[in-house]
Amino acid sequence: MYLSLGVFLCLLCQSFGEVSIKYAAIIYRHGDRTPIDPYPTDPWRNESLWPVRFGQLTNIGKRQHYALGQWFRKRYSNIITDKYDSKKVYVRSTNVDRTLMSAEVNLAGMYPPTGKEVWNDHLNWQPIPIHTRPEHDDEVLAMKRKCAQYDIAKNNFINSRAYEDHLSKYEGLMDYLTQHTLRKIKDFEDINDIYNILFIEDLYNLTLPKWTHSVFPDKLKEPACYSFSIATATPLMARLLAGPLLKTIVNNMLNKMSEQPDALTMSIYSGHDFTIANILSALGLFDGNCPSYTSTIILELLNDNSTHDYYVRISYRNTTDIVEPLILNIPNCGEMCPIQRFIQIYDNLISVDWESDCLVQNNNNLIIYFFITIHIFIFILYLQDNYSDVFKQEKRNELLRNRRIATDETKTCLCPDLEHNVDANNVEKPQLSENTVSTSPPRVPSNPRNGTQLTQQQNCLCVKFLVFRSKLADPAHDHNRLNIVQFTTE
Ligand SMILES: *[C@@H]1O[C@H](CO)[C@@H](O)[C@H](O)[C@H]1NC(C)=O
Ligand SMILES: *[C@@H]1O[C@H](CO)[C@@H](O)[C@H](O)[C@H]1NC(C)=O
Ligand SMILES: *[C@@H]1O[C@H](CO)[C@@H](O)[C@H](O)[C@H]1NC(C)=O
Ligand SMILES: *[C@@H]1O[C@H](CO)[C@@H](O)[C@H](O)[C@H]1NC(C)=O
Repeated sequence: MYLSLGVFLCLLCQSFGEVSIKYAAIIYRHGDRTPIDPYPTDPWRNESLWPVRFGQLTNIGKRQHYALGQWFRKRYSNIITDKYDSKKVYVRSTNVDRTLMSAEVNLAGMYPPTGKEVWNDHLNWQPIPIHTRPEHDDEVLAMKRKCAQYDIAKNNFINSRAYEDHLSKYEGLMDYLTQHTLRKIKDFEDINDIYNILFIEDLYNLTLPKWTHSVFPDKLKEPACYSFSIATATPLMARLLAGPLLKTIVNNMLNKMSEQPDALTMSIYSGHDFTIANILSALGLFDGNCPSYTSTIILELLNDNSTHDYYVRISYRNTTDIVEPLILNIPNCGEMCPIQRFIQIYDNLISVDWESDCLVQNNNNLIIYFFITIHIFIFILYLQDNYSDVFKQEKRNELLRNRRIATDETKTCLCPDLEHNVDANNVEKPQLSENTVSTSPPRVPSNPRNGTQLTQQQNCLCVKFLVFRSKLADPAHDHNRLNIVQFTTE
């Protein structure tokens, strides 16, 4: 470890090494927060006992991220300018108060205004943009956008024998928790929710109820932290959940390598323990520990200035202390992984095409479209069948008039009681003339059975149709040559 730390430190000081950082993607968790949703019997569930509302960033959390921002400024002084450059640095956060606030305070530590940036002598702060998207619409960072394919994959995993066997080991523990918290604890995520609340209360030196002594932290920790492996448990789940962010980052690296003028030097992502664990787990680098506040994954693009080769290096800092991150050993590639190799190894993640990969309803949609098409088709046949007498009549008229007509447009209004209305009442037929359109509405027929007048608006169907026919059409066989290419009903 000391060796890798030494190599790592040497890589940092560009003036001594031959490898330099060209681009860095930083993914961090928010800082210290209050519990999100204390359990029903929690003695500390009164929100006013806490410094801020539930789930919000505390002052401790603000200090943590401010310090981390200052550390980024130092570490990356070689690749990012002191002055904020909107073309080189991109910051994105999930759309949650504590991650947005963490990003804000982190940037305050990273970008204190200098020179012309100073806009208020009493405030050593300047605004830096933070981009976000609604969580339900964010497949990249929040990883919460609905994906039908993912839901199926997760369901299959949750219902697998291996998962059920694993979970059943904790049945006694879950019953114990359910009994004392009065909240139904039924899976690893539920265990983690309780563990997380107790962890925070313990951190805040609040006395935990007696029943917790036999289970917290030891018995709860392992199943609680295991919950973070579930979301990316299978290659498909990992691809759909963690793929979009890793794909974005690798694209940024490739842009930088090809010296695109708009290539970013740094992208910063403010997320949650869920984000950190999903990325580590998808990369095969998750160690089973719950990610701590401000834990940070760094993916760096390195360039060897003599060979001009590019490498990816992944580091992880899983503590709130400001310490050098550990360089992680990329499976089958090592601590400095040639980028082409990296892309090969993680092809399953990077090649994700989220929109189309998620469209599992595709099959269902196809079936639906198929049925709609069939129905339209049957409806057309039905119309043709019901009104074919009229069509034939039309055509006979046309053919008799002028055999050179290539196209006719006809509008005919028909009433439901066809035999009576059309034949018995001698509805006026549309008159066709050469190359023109005849749309004379039919005379309103009277119903012979009860003598009432049918109005067109009430009961009749108007069909407008285009007829193509051959100049050489033989009137004797013409009904086989009638092609309706377009009709509209009114
Ligand atoms: C929470 O604590 C405050 C202040 O001690 C008190 O006024 C309030 O009634 C408590 N709320 C509940 C739901 O117990
Ligand atoms: C809890 O107690 C420890 C030890 O006294 C102290 O260092 C820490 O700041 C306390 N935590 C909080 C959140 O007050
Ligand atoms: C941090 O990561 C290292 C290496 O994976 C591990 O040994 C250590 O236990 C982790 N610490 C915490 C607090 O998770
Ligand atoms: C690589 O970079 C180092 C530090 O900037 C420099 O001393 C060295 O001469 C460079 N080597 C080449 C081949 O450019």
